[in-house]
Amino acid sequence: MCQTKLRSALVLLALVVSLGLLVMLTGACQKEIKPVADLTPYPLQIPLGLGKGYAKWIPADNPLTTAMVELGKKLYFDPRLSADGSVSCARCHKPDHGFADDTPFSDGVKGQLGDRNSPTVLNRLYSKAQFWDGRAASLEAQALGPVQNPVEMASTLPAMVSALDKIAGYKPDFEKAFGSAEITADRVAKAIASFERTVLSGNSAFDRFQAGDTSAISESAKRGFAVFMAKGNCAQCHPLPNFTDEEYHNLGVGMNKPNPDLGRYKVTKNEEDKGAFKTPTLRDIANTYPYLHDGSEKTLLAVLEFYDRGGIRNPHLDEKMKPLKLTKKEQADLVEFLKALTGEPLKITEPALPK
Ligand code: HEC
Ligand code: HEC
Repeated sequence: MCQTKLRSALVLLALVVSLGLLVMLTGACQKEIKPVADLTPYPLQIPLGLGKGYAKWIPADNPLTTAMVELGKKLYFDPRLSADGSVSCARCHKPDHGFADDTPFSDGVKGQLGDRNSPTVLNRLYSKAQFWDGRAASLEAQALGPVQNPVEMASTLPAMVSALDKIAGYKPDFEKAFGSAEITADRVAKAIASFERTVLSGNSAFDRFQAGDTSAISESAKRGFAVFMAKGNCAQCHPLPNFTDEEYHNLGVGMNKPNPDLGRYKVTKNEEDKGAFKTPTLRDIANTYPYLHDGSEKTLLAVLEFYDRGGIRNPHLDEKMKPLKLTKKEQADLVEFLKALTGEPLKITEPALPK
């Protein structure tokens, strides 16, 4: 009798003690639990014509989340990433100019001019290497280049981080995207790259034509498409759906100048890469003038005349470059086709910047 009572009392005591321990432990654990990143996937809408599978283009260590894309968008439009707070990414990759710039060379901090034309950031989702010469291996690796480029944003990574650190409004955004408010250059790069992957051009008149709407483009554009695929030899380097092979070719652009930009050669040091540049996408091409890596051609017709001449002769001219002998009508048709590659208007507006 007495023994049973003692046993029950002991059991009760053990229960109370373990319960107490449990409460203490969970209390302690709760204190240790760090806020976690909001990993809600970004609902990426792939416009008609670009193809469905995109997962393979997104690096495993930077999944596309809504929190990340929203933060990246603010950073993309924020001039405070630059040395004097005057130049944002959007200054040279203008949303209302096909995410490219409207001058041959863009002006950065203090009006300094660069020496290459600003390419579009449209559809860089479908890309590997970045820059005209491919010197950055990913969008993440690219994003911090302009910040440190002395004629672009003219800053340093520590200076950029400390400038952003002073903006209280960014803390909750970083916390949501990464699980802590800490600002690092690596995080800035990841967020900007995520935003860029959502800047897509598709559902153009040409895409609707390809999908079966035979009246979506003019008869002239249809003839232009045929020239593009056959006589013009264009699709060899500008294959569908993004109209680029993401490879490097020497068309001779600028090779008749005294000290030509050697392009891809600067990265690989391979003789055959001298004067080779990455093939740009042709999507939204009617909006992204002027053209070519040195912005030397103002109109699409002028670019076609350049191709018709077979480019500019030089020892490393790509073997696919030959005089085309296009008629005036074929050239006009090609221009109509290229204009049909303008995507549906993007709904990207400038965000309110954190204070
Ligand atoms: C002052 C103008 C300027 C600013 C500011 C600028 N860029 Fe650029 N951007 C360029 C130029 C010029 C190039 C091409 C340079 C080269 O190839 O050497 C380029 C290249 C790129 C590319 C490569 C595209 C491709 O097809 O390879 C991406 C992506 C890009 N910029 C994104 C950004 C982002 C993100 C920012 C802001 C952090 C930014 N740029 C700020 C002018 C600018
Ligand atoms: C040998 C590969 C190759 C062929 C063939 C080719 N392109 Fe290109 N295209 C390129 C490269 C590379 C560039 C950038 C060259 C540079 O700036 O040095 C370019 C640039 C362009 C541009 C300017 C894009 C911009 O954003 O500045 C247009 C437009 C264009 N090509 C259209 C065409 C058309 C139309 C044809 C057929 C008549 C064609 N291309 C044939 C590789 C090629």
